[in-house]
Parts: sequence; C-alpha cells; structure tokens
Amino acid sequence: DWTTHNVVEEQIAAIQAQVGTKRAICGLSGGVDSAVAAALVQKAIGDQLTCVYVDHGLMRKGETEQVEKDFVAATGVQLKVVDAQERFLNALAGVSDPEEKRKIIGREFIRVFEQAQAEIVAEAGAEGEDVAFLVQGTLYPDVVESGGGTGTANIKSHHNVGGLPDDIEFELVEPLRQLFKDEVRMVGQELGLPEEIVQRQPFPGPGLGIRIVGEVTKERLDLLREADAIAREELTAAGLDRDIWQCPVVLLADVRSVGVQGDGRTYGHPIVLRPVSSEDAMTADWTRMPYDVLAKISTRITNEVADVNRVVLDVTSKPPGTIEWE
Ligand code: XMP
Repeated sequence: DWTTHNVVEEQIAAIQAQVGTKRAICGLSGGVDSAVAAALVQKAIGDQLTCVYVDHGLMRKGETEQVEKDFVAATGVQLKVVDAQERFLNALAGVSDPEEKRKIIGREFIRVFEQAQAEIVAEAGAEGEDVAFLVQGTLYPDVVESGGGTGTANIKSHHNVGGLPDDIEFELVEPLRQLFKDEVRMVGQELGLPEEIVQRQPFPGPGLGIRIVGEVTKERLDLLREADAIAREELTAAGLDRDIWQCPVVLLADVRSVGVQGDGRTYGHPIVLRPVSSEDAMTADWTRMPYDVLAKISTRITNEVADVNRVVLDVTSKPPGTIEWE
C-alpha cells in the first residue's frame, strides 16, 4: 500500500538497479522537484551523483545559500556551483522584451549547464568512470501532459555534451514520474529536506529576470530582491504561505511616479504585489488578503527599499492576466 516510506524504498532500489556503478548528474534549480529527485538519487547512489547549480543571479534573496548550505547539509550531496551572474547580466543587457529575455535566459542556462556537465564528465573520465545518467524531477502531471513521453523538463532527454564526442548521451533517471506535487513534498519531508525547500511555492525558471518590467540590471535585481524578501517575510509571519499559491513581486522599472518621502519629493518606481489563489496555475484568482498584512508590506517596502515610493496590488484574475507579468 502507498506510504511515503514505501515509495522511497522502492525508488531507491529502482535507481540502484538502473544506475549500477556508473555516475549521474542532476541540475538543481532551487525548486522542490529537482531537490527531491536529487535527494532520492543521492540516498540511492551516494557519491556517484554530482549536482550542478547554476547561479544566474536572478534568484531571490537567500536561495543560492539555501542550496549551497541547507540542501548540502541535509543530503551530503556533491555540489558544483557555477557562478554565472556576469554572463547572464551581459547577455540580458539592453533587453526589455519579455519573450526575448526568456529565450536568452533559457539559452544561457543550457550552455552553462552543458559546460558544467562536460567538466564533470571529463573529470570522471580521467578517473576511468562513466557518467551515463541525467536525473530529472519530472512529475506525473508532466508525463501526462506530454502524452506519456519524457517530461517537460528544460534539459532534453538525449542531447549531446558540448565539446565532447557526439556519441555521448545520457539516459534519464526520473524517480518522481509517478508522483503528484503533494506526494513529492511528502517524500522530501521523509528524506529530511529543510521545510523551506519542501514547502516552496512555485517560482519561474527565469527567476526575477521576468519580474522586472524593463531592462534587467544588477541594481534593479538587488532592489527587487529586497522588496520580494520583505513581502515573503510578512506573508510567512502572517501565516499565509499555505493559503496563497504564490505571490510574485514585480518591479515596474520603466515607470516612475512622484512621491513624498523623508525630506521631500521623490520620483521612484512602483512595486506590484500579485498574490494569487490557484489549484494548478492554469487559472487563478487574486487573493483577498488581509488589509493589515498588505499595509505592513507596503510600509516596509517604501521605508526600506531605496527608489521605491509606491506599492500597488494586482486585482486581476487569470485569465485575462497571467500570474507573472512577463
Ligand atoms: P503564468 O504567468 O503563465 O504562470 O500564469 C503560470 C505558472 O508557471 C510559472 N512560470 C514558470 N515556471 N518556468 C517555470 O518553471 C517559466 O518560464 C515560467 N513562467 C511562468 C508561474 O510562476 C506560475 O506558477
């Protein structure tokens, strides 16, 4: 019968049977699925697994540290962190169009990931080891949506590694293929992952890059990171994490409005709060949040984040509005 304990035991046996004595690679995004998949595989094959985390500089406050410290502490996994912040900022310079931003971020991500993969394969090869497997956090809904084939993960199943012979391909390890999101969270808990990772709300792959309306710059990312951290802190303090599906915090970088702060007139940017309620993100409604929580977030953001003099609430359902602004 179905218990998380049984699922973990079964999957560990299946992973060991599949991978044998070879090596595997897993990309970590900071999200729940890749974290739980990696933790399961680590439990099954230990140091035969290496995880790769690409820090593109578009993460929220504390997220990279969460992976670097808390995830490693909880799992003992071998982690390769690639600092690609400069690379992403350079690639995004001067770009405001949402689709173009998404394409650039996706493309750079794959390039950096493949390069890291190639390095791991080369290092293992020097030791006479064979890296043959790629771990993916594909869930059951992903399998169904794509017609039973491989999941919707952002790394394709049989792709070649840059700079290496064309015939090197990876076989997928997908230990979460039979699970729904809530089951994945239970498995994560069973594996002892930190609560902040297991209970994370959805966060888009392109990160804060698509929550800045306008060009993405280091200064704007830092500003948005501060505002987002304040909103998350207050939502958590108010006990609203489970009631809200997610709450994007968006910087309208190309908009300015007049304000009065401290010594006088300001001309700053608005921050948008976009709290939504949803079952599956396909449709959503704006969350009727307590006014006092909204007030607290607004006061703190305008007091603590330089260059922000206005906080506005998005009261649009999906459709017609998407959850993200870009
Ligand atoms: P939208 O904005 O389309 O978002 O209503 C629906 C859900 O998907 C998330 N989202 C993404 N997740 N990569 C992801 O992994 C992406 O490029 C991406 N874009 C949107 C969004 O946060 C929401 O949960």
